[in-house]
Amino acid sequence: MGLAEGRVVIVTGAGRGLGRAHALAFAEEGARVVVNDLGVGLDGLPGPESPAALVVAEIRAKGGEAVAHGGDIATTEGAASLVETAVSTFGRLDTLVNNAGFLRDRMLVNLDEDDWDAVMRVHLKGHFLPLKHAAAYWRAEAKEGRQVAARVVNTSSGAGLLGSVGQGNYSAAKAGILGLTLVSAAEMGRYGVQVNAIAPAARTRMTEQTFADTMAAPEAGAFDAMAPENVSPLVVWLGSDASAGVTGRVFEAEGGRITVMEGWRPGPTADCGTRWTPSEAGEATTKLLAESEPPQPVYGAR
Ligand SMILES: NC(=O)c1ccc[n+]([C@@H]2O[C@H](COP(=O)([O-])OP(=O)(O)OC[C@H]3O[C@@H](n4cnc5c(N)ncnc54)[C@H](O)[C@@H]3O)[C@@H](O)[C@H]2O)c1
Repeated sequence: MGLAEGRVVIVTGAGRGLGRAHALAFAEEGARVVVNDLGVGLDGLPGPESPAALVVAEIRAKGGEAVAHGGDIATTEGAASLVETAVSTFGRLDTLVNNAGFLRDRMLVNLDEDDWDAVMRVHLKGHFLPLKHAAAYWRAEAKEGRQVAARVVNTSSGAGLLGSVGQGNYSAAKAGILGLTLVSAAEMGRYGVQVNAIAPAARTRMTEQTFADTMAAPEAGAFDAMAPENVSPLVVWLGSDASAGVTGRVFEAEGGRITVMEGWRPGPTADCGTRWTPSEAGEATTKLLAESEPPQPVYGAR
């Protein structure tokens, strides 16, 4: 029996890259998969046809079950029809993997409002809307008295965790996804829904040029640490029944490594029991900073 046997899984942006690898891995573990992809270019502008149908054909060729959905997940219509496609085609929905997205990298001073809006929209709204529609479906199921063991896997990034030079829009959107993950895990637990996030690293069209050195394929026969397929086993486990009890957590996944990310927590603190003067606040804060852990460097910072 596969780990995802009997489950119905949506993967957004599954026509290529990490999403494609997740969709194939879920199918291999027995899931029926809705393969969503709008088929846009690397910068989000309209591309040739959606590659979702190709991934569906790959899954079917291996004896699996899948259906394509070509909608834009950052619209109400696209997100609603995505959940509807799962339910009308396969009769249910068990797992949502939010993964679709694109980049518009610029230094902040050169970042146009359009580049800000497009990246915030596809990542942050593109996580919120499918999550909202799936959550409404699962809440209705729970209220009908049906057992729900639903799973959501969101896709953040090292840029969202630590920041990344030249990616102010993307880092803000990916950090927002972490906040959304924590809140939705807390709100949806009572309905049987678990929500976690990953920060992956892999060789896809998004990274193969910008990070050409780290992403390079190895000599034939060596472990290809940057293959997107390396990230999918964690995603499949988080998206399966087997991860019961794990929610509101963030994991880095790359090559053969899985890391639990430990988030903001109180460090050194001082309380003077009344209002500080600005210079007292400065003196106390300077002492606290000396006692605190130094922050992790921002990606790309010198
Ligand atoms: N590759 C990495 O190392 C890396 C690192 C950190 C985070 N990520 C995140 O992983 C996810 C997948 O990235 P990837 O590297 O596989 O990129 P990719 O470009 O190979 O795949 C993304 C897919 O999303 C689709 N898409 C874009 N906008 C869409 C929309 N509105 N509706 C539906 N589909 C849409 C694209 O057509 C594309 O096929 C992204 O959220 C990315 O930010 C990737």
